[in-house]
Amino acid sequence: MKLIYRVSVFALLVIITYIVIIRSGNGYLSVVLNMTIKEGKVNRVYLWTNLSRIRCDMYGDSNKPKHEIVLSVVVCGDRVQETLVMIKSALSLSQDSKLRLIILAEEKLVQDFIEKLTEWKNILNGSFTFETRPVSFPKSGEEEWKKLFKPCASQRLFLPSVLVDVDSVLYVDTDVLFLSPPENVWRHFDLMNSTQLAALAPEHEDPNIGWYNRFARHPYYGKLGVNSGVMLMNLTRMRDFGWEKYLVPILKEYKLKMTWGDQDIINIIFHYHPECLYIYDCSYNYRSDHCMYSSVCKAAHAQGVKVLHGSRSTFHTEKQPAFSAVFRAFQEYQLGTDAYQYLYLPMESYLKQATVSNCGKVHSIFLKQIKEFVGDGDYFS
Ligand SMILES: *[C@@H]1O[C@H](CO)[C@@H](O)[C@H](O)[C@H]1NC(C)=O
Ligand SMILES: *[C@@H]1O[C@H](CO)[C@@H](O)[C@H](O)[C@H]1NC(C)=O
Ligand SMILES: *[C@@H]1O[C@H](CO)[C@@H](O)[C@H](O)[C@H]1NC(C)=O
Ligand SMILES: *[C@@H]1O[C@H](CO)[C@@H](O)[C@H](O)[C@H]1NC(C)=O
Ligand SMILES: *[C@@H]1O[C@H](CO)[C@@H](O)[C@H](O)[C@H]1NC(C)=O
Repeated sequence: MKLIYRVSVFALLVIITYIVIIRSGNGYLSVVLNMTIKEGKVNRVYLWTNLSRIRCDMYGDSNKPKHEIVLSVVVCGDRVQETLVMIKSALSLSQDSKLRLIILAEEKLVQDFIEKLTEWKNILNGSFTFETRPVSFPKSGEEEWKKLFKPCASQRLFLPSVLVDVDSVLYVDTDVLFLSPPENVWRHFDLMNSTQLAALAPEHEDPNIGWYNRFARHPYYGKLGVNSGVMLMNLTRMRDFGWEKYLVPILKEYKLKMTWGDQDIINIIFHYHPECLYIYDCSYNYRSDHCMYSSVCKAAHAQGVKVLHGSRSTFHTEKQPAFSAVFRAFQEYQLGTDAYQYLYLPMESYLKQATVSNCGKVHSIFLKQIKEFVGDGDYFS
C-alpha cells in the first residue's frame, strides 16, 4: 500500500512538472525538478522557476516554437571578418531562443556572409536563420544622407522603414562581442514601459572624462549622453512615433555641430523625448572608456561584462590588450566545439597576459558572465 502511495505521488509530481514546463511559455522560464531518491524513497522534490540561468534540456524537446531574437548589423567596407566574429559570439552563447540574423550589407560583401553562415548553420544543425539585405534608404532624401555620412553610418537610423516587416531588433555595431547570451539583452524589451521604443547604455559613467558634457555643441540625452553601439529598437513603436520624420529637420539644424554623426542625432531626439528611451547599464555596452583610467562601470564589477564594444579599434590594435585578447579568443574558436575548453580557457589565458594595462587589471569582469554560460559542462554545480 505504502509503495503504491509513493509511486502515485511521484507520478503526479512528474506530470505536474511536465505541465509546468510545457506551459512556461517564453524561453526565459526554465523549470528544474530536483529529486533526491534515496533508498527507494522520494526524499525531497524541489520545483522552482528561475530566469535563464539554468538551462533545462527538457524545454528544448517541447513542441512550442522557440522565442525569436532578431539580431541586426550593418556592414560596409572591410568589416566582414569582424562582423562574423560578433555573430560567432552571439551563436556560441545563445541559449534557448531561435536567433534570426538580418545583415544589411554592401552587395560585394554578401557572398562572404552566405558562405560562412551556411557552414555554421550546418555545424549548429540549423539552430539559427539568416538573411542578407542591401543597404538602402527611403527614396526621399536618399542622396542627402548618403553624401553626409558614409552610407553605412546612417543606415541604422532608417531601420524602421528599411525593415518594415520586422517588429523589433537588437542592433549592434560590427565591433561588438557577446560575453553573455543575446537573450540577456533582449529581455529588456519586457522591462520597457509603453512609451519606451529603444534601449541604450550611457556614453559615460564619469563626468570628468565624459565627451558630451564637455564638448558637445548640441543637445544630448541625460547627463552624459548615450552610446548607440548596442541598441534595442522596437521598430513598430518607432514607426508609430514617426521616428524618421525627425531626422531631416534635426540634420538641417545641427549638421555643422555634430561630431559622431548618427549617434548625435539619436542623442538629440532622445533629449527632446526622454520618455521614449529605456536605459540599461554599462555592462551591456562595455567600452575601453570604462577601464582605461580607472574602472568606472559598477554593474560590470557586480555581474561581469555582458556585451563588449571594441570602439576605437580596440579589438584590432594593441592599445587595449584586454580587448584584443577577448577578440582573439572568439576569432580562434571553432563553433560546435566545447566552449569551455576552446573558448573560455584560451580567453582566460590571453587575458592574463594583458594584466599590465588598466583594463587588463580588471580582467576577471570580462570572464564572469561567459564562465557562467559556457560553464564547465556542469550546469547544476
Ligand atoms: C535564481 O536566480 C537567482 C539569480 O541568479 C539566484 O540568486 C537564485 O539562487 C536562483 N534560484 C534558484 C532556486 O536557483
Ligand atoms: C548536430 O547533430 C549531430 C547529429 O545529430 C550531433 O552529433 C551534434 O552534436 C549536433 N550539434 C549541435 C551543435 O547540436
Ligand atoms: C514592440 O511594440 C509593439 C507595440 O507596442 C508591441 O506589440 C510589441 O510586442 C513590442 N515588441 C517587443 C519585442 O517588445
Ligand atoms: C516610461 O519610463 C520613462 C523613464 O522612466 C518615463 O519618463 C515615462 O513617463 C514612462 N512612461 C510611462 C507610460 O509610464
Ligand atoms: C538537489 O537537492 C539536493 C539535496 O537537498 C541538493 O544537495 C542539491 O544541491 C540540489 N540540486 C540543485 C541543483 O540545487
